[in-house]
Amino acid sequence: MNRGLRLFTPAIPAVVAVGFFVSFANWIPQTHWAPPKKLALSADLTPAELARAGATIVRERGCMACHTMEPGAGVKGGGRGPNLDGVAARRAQGVAGAAPNVVDYLVQSLYEPGAHLVEGYPNIMPPATAAPAKLGYEEVTAVVDYLQSLGGTASVKLGELPKPPGSGAAAPVAPAAAPAVAAAAGGAQLLTDMGCVACHAPAPGQQAIGPVLDADSIRKAAGERRVSPEAYLMESIVEPAAYQREGFPAGLMPADYGTKLTAAQLKSLVAYLLGEAGS
Ligand code: HEC
Ligand code: HEC
Repeated sequence: MNRGLRLFTPAIPAVVAVGFFVSFANWIPQTHWAPPKKLALSADLTPAELARAGATIVRERGCMACHTMEPGAGVKGGGRGPNLDGVAARRAQGVAGAAPNVVDYLVQSLYEPGAHLVEGYPNIMPPATAAPAKLGYEEVTAVVDYLQSLGGTASVKLGELPKPPGSGAAAPVAPAAAPAVAAAAGGAQLLTDMGCVACHAPAPGQQAIGPVLDADSIRKAAGERRVSPEAYLMESIVEPAAYQREGFPAGLMPADYGTKLTAAQLKSLVAYLLGEAGS
């Protein structure tokens, strides 16, 4: 409840923030973001039991910020990503040239969403093993079983799926020891290393799920929030829920960067975003 209380403290912006929050909560079938908790999945679970765990994972790890579960709506639901209801029936034969069966297809959709794009959708889905979902190998199995159960029958046991591509290298959270020499250059690297670029484009005109991070837009947003651009950036990165930008999904940006970035890294990011981004 802490976050809720903090949301109400500043009197005037609170009214605005709460208004946005309420309308987003109606728009997206997900009203809060909990930092990823790894589920304990024991080796003897059946595919059907794994599917039930997968349902919880999909609900709690941000998938529904983009996807919907609309019975009978076909692939095009009302979300930013495909409707997942009936996905296993639609993809029973996988996709030609990419994955020859439903399991291979679902695994590829999670590990490398950009490898085959569902027609009519942009390449905005982060790999399920990266932020914000950060699924572990066993959680991927549970999610595949769950997706298979949407129009088909769960069939995968733990240990049967391939491991994520480049396991280790794919993890975006390795704390980069940013050398203090060139703060701004360190900032650019951090945007990649911390996974920010999965959701933010550095320059206007590029499609992304989060706001464009160019210096002009940031100054404008800071003006609306009535704080300095530096303070606005710090708050946005460390406490994303404190202020909600209109037109963007609530609860999608990970809330734990404050614990992952050192103070020096945060300063590099702020310097970079205000100094050089958008040029
Ligand atoms: C930022 C938005 C976003 C998030 C978050 C997201 N997805 Fe996606 N997803 C998409 C979009 C857009 C597509 C279609 C383009 C493509 O194929 O990559 C897609 C495609 C898919 C597909 C293929 C669907 C089909 O009809 O073939 C599956 C399965 C899927 N996502 C599952 C998930 C799961 C599970 C999660 C959570 C771990 C998730 N997605 C999180 C946006 C998102
Ligand atoms: C999973 C997607 C995602 C990731 C990863 C992510 N963000 Fe965000 N971010 C968003 C969304 C969506 C918003 C807008 C909604 C909001 O205000 O919370 C946002 C808002 C922001 C804002 C406010 C921008 C404005 O114009 O008001 C800043 C600054 C920002 N993010 C910086 C970062 C940085 C820096 C990182 C990496 C350390 C990062 N974000 C990682 C999705 C993401």
